[in-house]
Amino acid sequence: MSSVAETRANPAPPPNTVIVGRELIYLDTVDSTNSRALESGPDGLVIVAGEQSAGRGRHGHTWDSAPGLGLWFSVALEGGADDAVVFAAALAIREALEPGCRAQVKWPNDLLIGGKKVCGILVERRGARTALGIGINVHHRKEDFPEPLRETATSLDSATGTRWNRWELLRRVLEALDRKVLALRAGMGEDIRCAWFAACGLEGKHVRCGATIGRVAGMDKQGALLIETDGRIRRISDGPVVAIDGD
Ligand code: BTN
Repeated sequence: MSSVAETRANPAPPPNTVIVGRELIYLDTVDSTNSRALESGPDGLVIVAGEQSAGRGRHGHTWDSAPGLGLWFSVALEGGADDAVVFAAALAIREALEPGCRAQVKWPNDLLIGGKKVCGILVERRGARTALGIGINVHHRKEDFPEPLRETATSLDSATGTRWNRWELLRRVLEALDRKVLALRAGMGEDIRCAWFAACGLEGKHVRCGATIGRVAGMDKQGALLIETDGRIRRISDGPVVAIDGD
């Protein structure tokens, strides 16, 4: 992963792809790459930022996007991306990381290494346009994270003890993502969703999700967990899910 030196000039060389990244814009600083991706530009446009001044996560949380420490980028997709795009992204990122480490996918849309969050994904839509935003912590040391995140977040460098190359990783992610977007557009959203659900390992598990305790019976097309409790199925669309010990 560290064969190509990081460089300020041309930091993000073009990937070998059909859709994703056929146009790629690098901005030293931007409020949020998702905001930029939702505005305008061709299908497959990738906006990469050195830093984000207003990076955002799910539920209106801020996403800490310090300069030079991570990969902060968004892919603009036209034409009403399949709901499975978030699962496609998680599987693509996991595949791109594979030569260097094994990440776990975590419901609803995180990637973890050693139980700590290394990547978050935020899908936002405006009309038929979708911004698929991806944040990967790459070079952070523990002290680089804001205090509240230090026990729950990690970076690739910290988790693996090796120095990762952000631009080499970006190329690998975009190429893996391109294959998934092509598969989605070929109607394979359900296969991708099923592959993600199998990988997340929740099926049949006894879990707690807020006040709901029960067994995971499945996941619907929108990505909501179906939890069987007292003979009824409850649909849980977000929030922390904790597997209950001994199961
Ligand atoms: C989450 O786990 O809450 C999702 C985090 C998504 C962060 C990425 S960084 C690039 C893109 N731009 C943003 O403002 N957010 C996403």
